[in-house]
Amino acid sequence: MKRLFITGGSGLLGSKFKYIAGSKYEIVTTHHKNPGENSVLFDITDENDVMNKITSLNPDAVIHAAALTNVDYCEDHPKEAWNVNAKGTDNIAKACEKTGSKLTYVSTDFVFDGERGMYSEEDKTNPLGYYASTKLEGEEFIRQYDDLNYAIARVSVLYGWHTRMNFVTWVIDELKNGNEINIVTDQYNSPTLADNAAEAMIKIFEKDKTGIYHTVGDERINRFDFARNIAEVFDLDSSLINPTKSTNFVQKAKRPKDSSLNVEKVQRDLGIKMLNTTEGLNYMKKVMQ
Ligand SMILES: NC(=O)c1ccc[n+]([C@@H]2O[C@H](COP(=O)([O-])OP(=O)(O)OC[C@H]3O[C@@H](n4cnc5c(N)ncnc54)[C@H](OP(=O)(O)O)[C@@H]3O)[C@@H](O)[C@H]2O)c1
Repeated sequence: MKRLFITGGSGLLGSKFKYIAGSKYEIVTTHHKNPGENSVLFDITDENDVMNKITSLNPDAVIHAAALTNVDYCEDHPKEAWNVNAKGTDNIAKACEKTGSKLTYVSTDFVFDGERGMYSEEDKTNPLGYYASTKLEGEEFIRQYDDLNYAIARVSVLYGWHTRMNFVTWVIDELKNGNEINIVTDQYNSPTLADNAAEAMIKIFEKDKTGIYHTVGDERINRFDFARNIAEVFDLDSSLINPTKSTNFVQKAKRPKDSSLNVEKVQRDLGIKMLNTTEGLNYMKKVMQ
């Protein structure tokens, strides 16, 4: 059985691989501060530990999903963000080159400035905040390894069932509790069901694809409309959702206005359907029942 090593296994995306591909592959997942069942303690900032663990496990593939993902925290803690997101990725790439493991690095739609939207894999990057810059540096580190077999899979606004809240589970919670919520109408992304992104990343490995892939949901949508879709699919009261503008929120890190991504390449090359929000939310509803 081929062995896949998933960094960030305690996170939203990383937690999906055992469910999606656990019957076909030996999946080894890692955690940092939040231990899980059969999970390996792993700090990607510790270069020696990364090298030792990856060389001793000698996986066929590494899917690198671990990161500091709180964009405002990264703005306030630039050194820590760089160590984890940029240098940590370099540490992983170095070890993968040594073992010959295929590396898929999970990156972000935030590498774009959001002035245009529907970006393709060839479009020019221009990150606005520190989180985004460190994730892009991670991409750049990987490209420097001549003998590394790698792919970069960019995702956007991940959602799905998980022990920690994400946008969808937060909206469900608030509406169930009868709370009014103010959601912006002027930020567009391509929300991505974590299970669907994990499936795409498994296909990248199976088809041995290289280069950049936009493994996101097949829909450009703003947060307000996304929240209304959540209410509709989960039969919740959408009148509790109020439209607002980004200027009404004080946020440390600048967000792109429209970081939606084009999924033509990923759907064509991988032969996979990337789900729009209605499809993704209905999947969540189905697996919950
Ligand atoms: N969430 C989004 O909307 C979004 C959007 C675009 C791109 N992405 C990218 O998608 C990937 C997955 O995101 P996610 O939302 O699933 O992440 P998440 O739920 O925030 O989980 C992050 C993971 O990284 C681990 N981690 C943090 N610091 C670490 C360190 N120093 N060493 C080893 N592991 C460490 C965490 O471990 P512990 O929890 O055990 O500490 C956790 O498993 C990330 O690369 C992120 O940049 C996410």
